[in-house]
Amino acid sequence: MSKFNPFNSTIFNKVIMAATGALLVLFLIGHMLGNLQVFLGREVFNTYAHFLQSTGELLWVVRLVLLASIILHVITSIKLKLLNNSAKPENYKVKNYIKSTLYSRTMIYTGILIFLFAFYHLLHFTAHVTNPEYATYEEPYGPKLQTEAIIEVDGEMISRSAGDGIFSRHDAFKMVITGFSKWHISVVYILFVLFVGLHLTHAVQSMFQTLGWNGPRLTPILNSVSRIIGWGLFIGFSSVPVSVMIFGLGKGVVGL
Ligand code: HEM
Repeated sequence: MSKFNPFNSTIFNKVIMAATGALLVLFLIGHMLGNLQVFLGREVFNTYAHFLQSTGELLWVVRLVLLASIILHVITSIKLKLLNNSAKPENYKVKNYIKSTLYSRTMIYTGILIFLFAFYHLLHFTAHVTNPEYATYEEPYGPKLQTEAIIEVDGEMISRSAGDGIFSRHDAFKMVITGFSKWHISVVYILFVLFVGLHLTHAVQSMFQTLGWNGPRLTPILNSVSRIIGWGLFIGFSSVPVSVMIFGLGKGVVGL
């Protein structure tokens, strides 16, 4: 008889799936709230983006945790699928869809699509590989310093004030508005954040199930929470490309 290996047990893998999924959901909620600051204007959005970039090592720790979570989440989903298949009798012909929904049956596909989207999205807005010009978008900013300095230029003493425009930072606002002003880019983003919403509508309720949070009264509530998170993320994320594409959000500000 083969020895019991906890790494191959369904429950162990489901717990890994739920824990990594929970981290990814928290990231998505935070990311969506951050993106919504586009509606507060260029100054607010760029200050937020600049703050994130200035966190240095912390940013890299978060990135590594995210990357590890994504890798573990994907590997574990494949493992669970294999465990599930091997538990079924060979000649299992009739598919039993009782209790399964369109969302749950398409998890693997929406998951793969989100993974592909995240890869494209990083090349687009983070690494600027698809649009190298984004890296050159700079916005002058600076605290309105009152300090005046007397400096010597070519033997002449002149006064210089350290005022506005002495610092410059990446213009993430212009990058997002320019990106979404191309309708096909907006459509791609809207479609993929729909997949994010569909995936999470089932994933969050499945996570609660793994945690053992169920019962005749609790399950319907947690199912609603799951739907609110899924559809809330879809609406929040898609509101940015929709507003740029349809209502011209920010176009005047960045001169488009
Ligand atoms: C319309 C929806 C979205 C918008 C407008 C958006 C916007 C952005 C922007 C502007 C950045 C770059 C930040 C910077 O470097 O200054 C970014 C980074 C990122 N986004 Fe999104 N995003 C959206 C949806 C998503 C979704 C659905 C996911 C996940 C599936 C995602 C995952 C990421 C990741 C992993 C990063 C890299 C964070 C880092 O710097 O390490 N985004 N996003």
